[in-house]
Amino acid sequence: MKRIFTGMLTIFALVLGLQVVLTSCEGPEGPAGPQGPIGGDGSVVCGACHNLSTDLLQKITQYEYSIHATGGTAIRSTTASCANCHSHEGFLEYMETGTVAAGIPVPLQPNCRTCHPIHETYTVADYALTYADPFVLNITEEKASFDIGKGNLCANCHQPRVLDPKISVGGPDLTITSYRWGYHHGPQAALYVGEGGYRIPGSMPYPATTGSKHMALLDNGCVDCHMAPGYATQSGGHTWNMRNASGAANMAACTECHSGATSFDILGGQTEVEHLLDSLKTLLTDAGIYGYQSAYIYPGTYTADEAGCYLNFQYLEEDRSLGVHNLTYAKALLTNSIEFLAKKKK
Ligand code: HEC
Ligand code: HEC
Ligand code: HEC
Ligand code: HEC
Ligand code: HEC
Ligand code: HEC
Repeated sequence: MKRIFTGMLTIFALVLGLQVVLTSCEGPEGPAGPQGPIGGDGSVVCGACHNLSTDLLQKITQYEYSIHATGGTAIRSTTASCANCHSHEGFLEYMETGTVAAGIPVPLQPNCRTCHPIHETYTVADYALTYADPFVLNITEEKASFDIGKGNLCANCHQPRVLDPKISVGGPDLTITSYRWGYHHGPQAALYVGEGGYRIPGSMPYPATTGSKHMALLDNGCVDCHMAPGYATQSGGHTWNMRNASGAANMAACTECHSGATSFDILGGQTEVEHLLDSLKTLLTDAGIYGYQSAYIYPGTYTADEAGCYLNFQYLEEDRSLGVHNLTYAKALLTNSIEFLAKKKK
């Protein structure tokens, strides 16, 4: 970081120096005027962003604290099939061409330039989002797209990878050879739009409408909660964290609508989903489906319903919001899976 700033200061010094040289031909200079407004005047090209305010620095500092910056996962992108979500370079290539041709030798973590076209026009227009179009959910048969505003950007990466072998409700048995079968880490966007669960029949109906209740209420999906004003540089904004370092919840993301709420456990949703996940895990373990290397499915041949129950567990465990991303759908998938396995056990 230090080196980048030194480089930046050198360029600034050069730009300023040039100004002094040019202005010194015209006689003595008057007192410095006040800082102009952002944007507009082409003569303040760099100052539109690199001005004396702390706005840019604040975003940089928040970003530097985020898992996007610190997670270290870009290294997965030396493999082409992982690079579209795990690196800056792979993501941009995938979004332009629909594929990543080869592993990225020196992959970068997602960064400013992944999400904003920095230094393209050298105006504040460079703070627009690189991709804002409705996102395609690759696990849907028809490659359906969904619109969750600015959250579309996030959903391009935070979605499950396509299953191999695929599964359909009441469909043929599945022969699963890899214990890694199931959804990948980061299936959040699928849950938010109400797709990807194995809709096993049961007493709890699945929501008729597409998407979580929030999907109809929030203009920008993920961004409205994960980038709400937060605590210092530890949660909210460009940290994307819902909790700060002490674990305290960033309630600013919720209280605008759920006034008086003091935890994310609104309507007891997280407590309930946690209990359902525990019960389902016990049943899957007892049925000899779950527990390979203490965290995966045992390779083998399963009926669609059995594999589907595992999928529902794994999906909602990997989502990590304990139902906040779509409580009604999560509860129905878990409850009906539990019913099925409990009945089978008897
Ligand atoms: C739209 C806002 C914006 C404008 C206009 C802008 N920059 Fe930047 N600049 C950024 C951002 C954002 C970064 C990346 C910060 C980071 O990654 O920590 C950056 C980074 C830099 C860096 C560090 C090296 C690098 O590329 O990351 C230098 C040097 C720099 N800018 C110089 C300039 C100069 C000179 C101009 C005018 C010709 C300019 N910038 C105009 C937003 C802007
Ligand atoms: C280029 C793909 C990509 C995009 C776009 C993206 N993410 Fe991520 N995100 C990732 C990856 C990969 C990780 C894991 C990073 C690591 O561990 O190094 C991650 C991590 C996170 C985490 C931290 C998870 C944890 O372990 O605590 C949150 C929260 C998050 N992203 C939310 C978002 C939101 C909100 C957006 C949209 C504004 C977004 N992401 C856009 C790929 C992406
Ligand atoms: C469709 C996008 C996508 C693809 C493709 C993808 N991942 Fe991920 N991966 C993510 C996201 C998003 C996260 C962060 C999820 C979270 O924090 O909840 C993640 C997290 C991870 C993690 C946990 C964080 C870490 O680095 O320790 C590992 C490991 C991982 N992925 C490995 C892989 C590997 C290996 C591949 C290729 C075989 C791959 N991923 C392909 C989206 C993807
Ligand atoms: C994972 C994607 C992502 C990354 C990485 C990212 N941003 Fe952003 N940024 C966003 C989104 C989404 C918004 C819109 C937030 C909103 O509307 O509340 C935004 C908003 C902004 C804004 C406000 C723009 C405006 O029109 O008011 C600035 C400035 C900004 N980002 C700078 C940066 C800088 C600097 C970095 C790198 C240090 C960075 N961003 C990294 C997604 C990202
Ligand atoms: C209604 C607000 C809300 C929306 C919308 C939302 N999230 Fe979350 N998200 C949460 C909460 C709350 C948690 C769980 C925090 C906890 O209990 O620690 C969470 C957890 C996560 C996590 C696990 C890591 C973490 O920070 O706890 C990731 C990754 C994530 N969300 C990404 C996304 C993505 C991507 C989207 C959009 C598809 C999205 N979220 C939409 C509120 C939201
Ligand atoms: C823009 C307003 C808004 C914001 C912001 C918001 N919510 Fe909600 N939320 C609602 C409304 C309205 C409902 C629907 C209540 C109903 O149908 O009974 C709801 C429903 C819920 C539900 C039940 C959902 C279901 O499917 O039954 C949970 C859980 C929840 N919110 C948690 C949260 C959390 C946690 C946050 C902050 C991270 C949050 N909400 C932010 C407006 C919001």
